[in-house]
Amino acid sequence: MIKPFGSDKLNPLYVADDAKRKALIKEAEGLPSVVISSAAAGNAVMLGSGYFNPLKGYMNVADAVSVAEKMQTTSGLFWPTPVLNVLKDASAIKGAKRIALRDPNVEGNPVLAIQEVEAIEEISADKMKLMTEKVFRTTDMKHPGVNAFNSVGNIAVSGPIQVLGYSYFEKEFPETFRTATQLRDVIAKRGWKEVVAFQTRNPMHLAHEELVKMAMKEYNADGAVIHMLLGKLKAGDIPADVRDASIRKMVELYFEPNSVEIAGYGFDMLYAGPREAVLHAIFRQNMGATVLIVGRDHAGVGDYYGGFDAQTIFDDVPKGAMDIKIFRGDHTVWCKKCDKVVMMRDCPHGKDDYIMLSGTKVRDMLAAGEDLPREFSRPEVARILMAYYKSEAGKA
Ligand code: ADX
Repeated sequence: MIKPFGSDKLNPLYVADDAKRKALIKEAEGLPSVVISSAAAGNAVMLGSGYFNPLKGYMNVADAVSVAEKMQTTSGLFWPTPVLNVLKDASAIKGAKRIALRDPNVEGNPVLAIQEVEAIEEISADKMKLMTEKVFRTTDMKHPGVNAFNSVGNIAVSGPIQVLGYSYFEKEFPETFRTATQLRDVIAKRGWKEVVAFQTRNPMHLAHEELVKMAMKEYNADGAVIHMLLGKLKAGDIPADVRDASIRKMVELYFEPNSVEIAGYGFDMLYAGPREAVLHAIFRQNMGATVLIVGRDHAGVGDYYGGFDAQTIFDDVPKGAMDIKIFRGDHTVWCKKCDKVVMMRDCPHGKDDYIMLSGTKVRDMLAAGEDLPREFSRPEVARILMAYYKSEAGKA
């Protein structure tokens, strides 16, 4: 099986031993505590689940800046995005060596992790700007990731953590939330050697289904993991439960039995395009995948990134830094002349021969109860989405 990223063994930071974890939860009740940001909570869940192996906790400012500038920590570990615990106000933990981190996304703010405080540092406005520019390639506050990154405060609390839970993900998505350790076990049990991972935050239409099938074919893969983000999204994106149901239906009806594992991870979307694609590759290696699909405008938003920037960034990854391979998918569409889904680079035909619907058009059609063209979407998938858009939640 493929080795984890950055170490021989996966070292998830979740305290799996029941007695130990209970003792830590008890200890945490007596520790100075803070309610952390949703982004920091997502980092804790990813560290706990083994996806962010080999990191041991939250970065200090020097590491975060170094990672932003050159995709490398000060000690030389390749890493594409800052992993921070940033607060607006650190007065409650002043002078403390050990603190409890409370979950902002669960009622009552239960303790999510215990952190050893190595440093509490103010991040200067210049450094915030530099990190934003490097990671997101823009400082436009209309960019949802830039906005989230710059809205949580500027006091970084660094140091190792012990993770005591998986926030709301286990409870809300019991069939879907999986840790990297669990997925490694699944892959080993199924005996898969070549495993394609598909990152998604959206329901999957025909083009996405075919992209997975094309990658599986190219690598002669034994299986695929459709691995969806379960954390927060920008307004207008389809909620995780609706997306989950539509993906399950698609896999049930249109993939070979036992060739796909559907799973999710607990992290908020960064919308950092290229940098997020690299992070995606790292954590798919940690969960045991050997190939990650990176298609058009991967993890992008609006028109902040070029359609294939999230592929070309892999040209800058130092040789040997990661073992996972990247399937670089071209724009995938239905071609009327080929009478099938094609990657544009493989097809001699042109724009007029393709069936392409914008996200807005798809939303409008579904909200009006109109079927999507069969060349665009599986009818069973469209029906699930239609029900959502007709519901109150979908109209909001
Ligand atoms: S995201 O997290 O990468 O933003 P999304 O669900 O939108 O998730 O896309 C999932 C994957 O499919 C990404 O690798 C993306 O590049 C790819 N993708 C989506 N639509 C297309 C398309 N029409 N052609 C090629 N790749 C696509």
